[in-house]
Amino acid sequence: MRVLGIETSCDETAAAIVEAPDGAASNGPVGRILANVVYSQLTEHRRFGGVVPEIAARAHLERIDGVVQQALDEAGFGLADLDGIAATGGPGLIGGVLVGVMTAKALAFAHDKPFLAINHLEGHALSVRLTEDVAFPYLLLLVSGGHCQLLTVRGPGDFTLLGTTSDDAAGECFDKTAKLLGLGFPGGPAVERAAAGGDPQRFALPRPLWRKPGCDFSFSGLKTAVRQTIEKLAVDEPPTGDPRAIADLCASFQRTVGDVFADRCANALAASSMPTLVVAGGVAANAYLRRRLEELAAAHGVRLVAPPVALCTDNGAMIAWAGVERLRLGKVDALDFRPRPRWPLDPDAAVRGVPSQVGSRP
Ligand code: KG4
Ligand code: ZN
Repeated sequence: MRVLGIETSCDETAAAIVEAPDGAASNGPVGRILANVVYSQLTEHRRFGGVVPEIAARAHLERIDGVVQQALDEAGFGLADLDGIAATGGPGLIGGVLVGVMTAKALAFAHDKPFLAINHLEGHALSVRLTEDVAFPYLLLLVSGGHCQLLTVRGPGDFTLLGTTSDDAAGECFDKTAKLLGLGFPGGPAVERAAAGGDPQRFALPRPLWRKPGCDFSFSGLKTAVRQTIEKLAVDEPPTGDPRAIADLCASFQRTVGDVFADRCANALAASSMPTLVVAGGVAANAYLRRRLEELAAAHGVRLVAPPVALCTDNGAMIAWAGVERLRLGKVDALDFRPRPRWPLDPDAAVRGVPSQVGSRP
C-alpha cells in the first residue's frame, strides 16, 4: 500500500510517499518513507516574526506542484502506482489547507484514486506508528505551535481528550519567548539552542496548574513572567546583549515547561493506566523535554515513544501515514469534503465538560 501525503496547513509545503503492508494490524508492522519533501517558507515569513496567512497561501500555491513532483521522482514512480492520495483537511490556516485539499482532490479524481482528508492533529497523533511498533491504545501528549493536549488514542478517528490549554499552546510560548529575547523565528529550536549550557535553576518561573488535579494546561502566566523577567533584567543587565542571561533564562524556561509537562502527564498516566506515553508535534523535537518525559515514563513503569525529530515538525509523511491507517480501515473521503479551519480530535469533549480546544493559532 502506497500513499501520497500533502501537508499545507501552516508554513511548510510538504509532500511524502509512504509504503506499508496492507491490513489493519494493530501493532505494526511499520511503514517505509519512500520520499519526504518539505519546503519551509521560513524566508518568506521571517521578517514578519511569524506566519502571515496570505503569504503562506500564495507560497503553497506556487510550490505545491513542484513539491509533489519531487516526491514522486524521489520515490521513483508515478501517480498511477499509488493506492491513495491524502491531504491535510484542517485544522489550520484555511488558505493553505484549501491549496493542499484541492491539489489532492484533483489528482485523486484524474487518476481515479481514493482521496483521504486527514486531520492534521491525527497526522501528529499517529506519526509514531510510522516508525515504531506502538499498539493502540496509548496516551498522547500533543504539543505543537497551535495545540497542547493530552488524549487517549484508540485508533484513527478515535480519541478522548483528557485535557487541553486554556490559553496558549506550548510551541506558541516557545515562539514568544524567543521573540522577546530577539532570538528569531521559529522560536522552539532557537530557545533550545540558546539554553545549551545555561543554568536551569537561575530563574524561578511560575508553573501554572502545577500539582493541581486534572490534565489541563495554561501558559499565559509563564509567558508574562518571562516578559517581566526580561524587563527587570534590562535595567542593569540587558538580556538581549548578555549571552549568559539569555542562556540561563532559556534553560530556566525549558525546565519550567518540562516540569509542567511531567506534572500534567503524571496525572494523565494515573487517570488512564495506559502502557505507553507518546509525545508528538513540533515541541516534541526538543531533546531536553523528551528526556524529561522519558524519566517520567520510567518512574511510572511505562514506555515513552516519540517520532524521530524530523517527523515531529510538520511534514507530509505523517499525513501519508494517517492516510495508510485510514485506507486500511476503508475510511476514505468523498470529493465534496470541505476543508475545516477548526477540527477537534474529540468533538464530544465539550459535552463531557473538558474545556473547549482554544488557542489563538489554528
Ligand atoms: O507541529 P508543528 O511543526 O506545527 C504546528 O502544527 O503547529 O509545531 C511547530 C511548533 C513551533 O511553535 C516551534 O517553535 C515548536 O513547534 N518547536 C519546538 C522545537 N522545534 C519546533 N519547540 C521546542 N523545541 C524545539 N526543538
Ligand atoms: Zn503540526
